[in-house]
Amino acid sequence: MLALVNGKVFIKGRLIKANLILSKRIEKITKEKPAVDNTIDCSGKIIIPGLIDPHVHFRDPGQTYKEDWTSGSKAAAHGGVTTVLDMPNNVPPITTPERLKEKIEIAKKKSIVNFGLYFGIGPSNLETLGEVKNIVCGYKMFMCKSTGDLLLTDVKKQEHAFETVSKTEKVLAVHAETPEINEAAMKNKIEDLPESYANTKPPESEIKAIEKALSMTKVYDTKLHVVHLTTAGGIELIKNAKMQGLDVTTETCPHYLFFTKTNMRKKKAFLSMNPPLRTKKDQAALWSAISAGTIDMISTDHAPHTIEEKSQSVWTAPGGVPGVETRAGLMIDAVNKRLLSFERFVEICCENPAKRFDIKERGFIEAGFFADITVVDMKKHYTIKTDNLYTKCGWSPFEGFKLKGCPVMTISEGKIIMEDGVVL
Ligand code: DOR
Ligand code: ZN
Repeated sequence: MLALVNGKVFIKGRLIKANLILSKRIEKITKEKPAVDNTIDCSGKIIIPGLIDPHVHFRDPGQTYKEDWTSGSKAAAHGGVTTVLDMPNNVPPITTPERLKEKIEIAKKKSIVNFGLYFGIGPSNLETLGEVKNIVCGYKMFMCKSTGDLLLTDVKKQEHAFETVSKTEKVLAVHAETPEINEAAMKNKIEDLPESYANTKPPESEIKAIEKALSMTKVYDTKLHVVHLTTAGGIELIKNAKMQGLDVTTETCPHYLFFTKTNMRKKKAFLSMNPPLRTKKDQAALWSAISAGTIDMISTDHAPHTIEEKSQSVWTAPGGVPGVETRAGLMIDAVNKRLLSFERFVEICCENPAKRFDIKERGFIEAGFFADITVVDMKKHYTIKTDNLYTKCGWSPFEGFKLKGCPVMTISEGKIIMEDGVVL
């Protein structure tokens, strides 16, 4: 047994002074002094549910030189994250039940945090989607080529997939970009101007793809989740769809909240990702949509690539940036700067992913739930430094960011897995 005493605990939307008694599960939430040997004083700290990251790429199996389940899950623990949902664009992609089961075994062996896996939708596995419904957290469709070979562009097949996934009652996570629009926009490429990368994947590419995904959701009643939303236009579409009662959720990522495409001038491919960074106007719309409730979650799209790979030009480097261990600090700093409320931070980083992906008995602090807990120090000042990070890729786009507030302890099923920035 472990007891966390004298902290303020986030329960049902409020901060309450209470003590927690933990085994693998939350045994008791009490005002009394617990009679437990292993007691941790959390005076001045805030205790929240362990964070959930609904969108990571841990690259294992296939590209473990970029990340693996050991390094990726340690990075998660460092960032206060106790559950990750991992994407299927491995090499080769997770598009068969056999590959999925193999990946489950690898993750079970190596991961120090709870995990769920997405199943990839390709052009030739539509008949097997139903088979795996009980062992996946959801399905992933790339409507456009991104990093890796997982792709489904044929409209008839996309419709078939929306219909099949609807029957599984699982969430369909969609990467919304339009291949034809991106191809035509290659005319905007200026070889020596890194930020022109963003203009080769313009806002309309995302907007048109979201329109298409929403229209299929309307027909087939699919649970749609639009990943890494970047545009003001996309926000409007999703807001309207929600008002019409469609079953749609969305997420954005810290890189879209803290960088715009002009930052690519200096950071070059270290800020290339798909979809790309946008304008200040889009960024402001994202922040508003977080507080307004149109954006349901913050994921990280943790997409590690090596320094060598990212040192190439934006035209040849693979898209994607790491982020699983920096999200909590960035968002807590944003709370301190009043860019969002503390309650909203917990909703979008813990509660809403648990609700949407039906992650049972996690995402909330409740007696009987798993003891997945993160202790936060709202006042700690620090600077993000690559040397302190656990991701194998060895860099962060947020290097040098000076922040106030961060997770200081991560507890997974009652075990302390991170303390004061050190993963145990
Ligand atoms: O930037 C990205 N990187 N976007 C994706 O869709 C995939 C990801 C990756 O796997 O590297
Ligand atoms: Zn992704």
